[in-house]
Amino acid sequence: MKRVYIETYGCQMNVADSEVVGGILARRGYGFTNDMSDADVILVNTCAIRDHAEQRIYGRIGLFGTYKKQRPGTLIGILGCMAERLRFKLVEEEKLVDLVVGPDEYRKLPELIENAFVGEKGIATRLSRVENYEDIVPLRTEGISAWLSVMRGCDKFCSFCVVPFTRGRERSRSLASVVEEVRTLAERGFKEVTLLGQNVNSYRDGEYDFADLMRSVAEVDRTMRIRFTTSHPQDMSDRLIETIAANSNICKYIHLPVQSGSNRILELMNRTYTIEHYLGLVKKIRTAMPDASLTTDIISGFPTETEEEHRMTVDLMREVRYDGAYTFKYSPRENTKAWEMVDDVPEEVKGQRVFEISQLQQKISHELNQRLIGKVEQVLVEGPSKKSDEEWTGRTDTNRTVIFSKNGEASGEYIDIVIERCNPATLFGRRPGAHSDCKAGFKTEAVTQ
Ligand code: 5AD
Ligand code: SF4
Repeated sequence: MKRVYIETYGCQMNVADSEVVGGILARRGYGFTNDMSDADVILVNTCAIRDHAEQRIYGRIGLFGTYKKQRPGTLIGILGCMAERLRFKLVEEEKLVDLVVGPDEYRKLPELIENAFVGEKGIATRLSRVENYEDIVPLRTEGISAWLSVMRGCDKFCSFCVVPFTRGRERSRSLASVVEEVRTLAERGFKEVTLLGQNVNSYRDGEYDFADLMRSVAEVDRTMRIRFTTSHPQDMSDRLIETIAANSNICKYIHLPVQSGSNRILELMNRTYTIEHYLGLVKKIRTAMPDASLTTDIISGFPTETEEEHRMTVDLMREVRYDGAYTFKYSPRENTKAWEMVDDVPEEVKGQRVFEISQLQQKISHELNQRLIGKVEQVLVEGPSKKSDEEWTGRTDTNRTVIFSKNGEASGEYIDIVIERCNPATLFGRRPGAHSDCKAGFKTEAVTQ
């Protein structure tokens, strides 16, 4: 039996795609290994969103080459967005690479691998308008949380983003197939499912929209938590907000990328909304769900961004007080609209702006976490904490990580935890009535309340 090793970079869609690849290969008799040196086929599922992501992967390809020398005949395949973006270039420039397979061509993998074993390099990077791998059973490891792609591609064409070029046009799976898969996951003991799409709230299956999908999925098993990512502010409908609010098992956690606090920059980014519209959404969300967690993505140093416009982003963050923010330096990507603009904000300035924003976010996250001290949170137990076998890690409905001492619980259980301490990223607590003996998080600051 040939053994495959898969390494995954980038977003959760890629994690879900690697499971689809696993499903396709398992059906054809391939085995899997977590040890690269033991593999007959090394696959790396790649990300092309920023140059930095690609540079890391080039580094890995070098390392795979060392294994290939030790085990001649080992195949190296590049999958995903970087494969789609670079195509022939990857095989020409990286002599070690045997396969280059884009996100819509994974069904061809078994055939391509077989051909590559007899010396024929394979490139498959056609994008599809219909492929959604609806019938493939992803190879998931048993656990508590599952990823489930419900739509693929993106039609938004934000001017900085390579995704519409690497993942193609939007297409959704049928509502029935998603509901069926969630039912299977519930039967297998999964307790949380995250519906995924590059632009998940523009999901559509005939007359059904994303709000319909969320409601149907939430009804499958009320003990199962439902999450979703990523939303575009333009498609955040009132019905979707109402649906999240009305269903107790849909998590009150919304990732709503804003990208910039300046309307001029938003227009240059082709984001199709204004800050006023965005703040209106935040208000609607908080009116419907006062305790909802809101997170965002921000790009610093988009072409022509002035200091004043950067300040607008800082002001927006102070106003919204996000629970979390992912901050990025603008990275020019070939083919995009912004590629034609002059990348005129110096790297150093981009760095300073990202630093300021992330520091501010740390401070806000910490303050918001501190407000939870003394409160009881329902936590889904996920597994042993990274630092100690004596402790569990789990998450709240609002996606906050909680660490607490083990006391006979099992993963997959929901339990109430009193929050005792925190840092910007993590809460620490105990079972109500239990002694306070949580030893995790030595670095945490003194509690100020
Ligand atoms: N440069 C920097 N950040 C980017 N993102 C997407 N494209 C770029 C780029 N060219 C960020 C956006 C998006 C997140 C997934 O990655 O903030 O929401
Ligand atoms: Fe990229 Fe914009 Fe589509 Fe998100 S919505 S994947 S940022 S083009």
